[in-house]
Amino acid sequence: STLGASAAEQGGRYFGTAVAVNRLNDSAYTTILNREFNQVTAENEMKIDALQPNQGQFNFGNGDRLVQHARSRGMQVRGHTLAWHSQQPGWMQNMSGTTLRNAMLNHVTQVATHYRGQIAWWDVVNEAFQDGSSGARRDSNLQRTGNDWIEAAFRAARQADPNAQLCYNDYNIDNWTDAKTQAVYRMVQDFKNRGVPIDCVGLQSHFTGGSNYPSNYRTTLSSFAALGVDVHITELDIRNAPSDAYRNVVNDCLAVSRCKGITVWGIRDSDSWRSNESPLLFDGNGNKKAAYNAVLTALNSG
Ligand code: G3I
Repeated sequence: STLGASAAEQGGRYFGTAVAVNRLNDSAYTTILNREFNQVTAENEMKIDALQPNQGQFNFGNGDRLVQHARSRGMQVRGHTLAWHSQQPGWMQNMSGTTLRNAMLNHVTQVATHYRGQIAWWDVVNEAFQDGSSGARRDSNLQRTGNDWIEAAFRAARQADPNAQLCYNDYNIDNWTDAKTQAVYRMVQDFKNRGVPIDCVGLQSHFTGGSNYPSNYRTTLSSFAALGVDVHITELDIRNAPSDAYRNVVNDCLAVSRCKGITVWGIRDSDSWRSNESPLLFDGNGNKKAAYNAVLTALNSG
């Protein structure tokens, strides 16, 4: 009768949401959160700029509040994100070379150590590849420290929290034939071949809806899974929330045993980063939308 409970009955999967910690004071918001979801991701509060605003000075307050809210209610927590070109604090944006590499690795180590044992999955590295046809890494200050920065981050995370599942997370890796998808696939394949500690791939899945829902999405999920990693749908939202697209996403996840769960990127349309597109499962008044019913039905019939 709820998204989380129905997902749990599908092989122990989860159905989660991004949470903005300041909204935990909004009882309408928290009522839906606590009723429907069994997994949470901090929308912004565990990003680098939030956790280490000044070098060496960590601010875990908001992240801790979310972890406490979730774990006291049996919700699993996805950590988002240890290393990213965006949302870096000013002091890090201006760094380069070995200084930046060491600061990034220290951040990974300090944060993963602080949350050791409390995080089910870490987005260790977020959005490191370019869009378009190149299949190349995204240029960034982190990338300019050397191509091995991603594996260095994964190794540091594994050392700091050996029981967390370590994920690579990105957007526009949903369509199997896209160059970006293929490039991430080859990186994961290479990491598995060389023993770099990676456990999962997160497909953000910010869809624009209609024909933009890739008909080969299930192939993408199963192809990553065949490399020996779990797959997670980590930031789902779909422009105008068409019921058929939401239903397809759920059915595609349920068809792949290594697809462990789905996280929507916010609760009500008014909470969304793209609120003008009404992309979520609840309207601004907290009412269930048609897409909610489509998702729940798909979860129950999978
Ligand atoms: O909290 C400040 C507030 O104090 C200030 O007055 C206000 C003025 O702009 O900004 C507020 O911070 C904003 C923050 O959201 C909280 O609302 C930031 O400017 C804004 O940039 C930030 O946007 C977030 C964005 O990531 C930043 O990269 C979105 O909420 C968040 O939904 C979005 O999430 C990302 C994932 O992390 C990665 N994948 C894509 C996804 C969507 O862009």
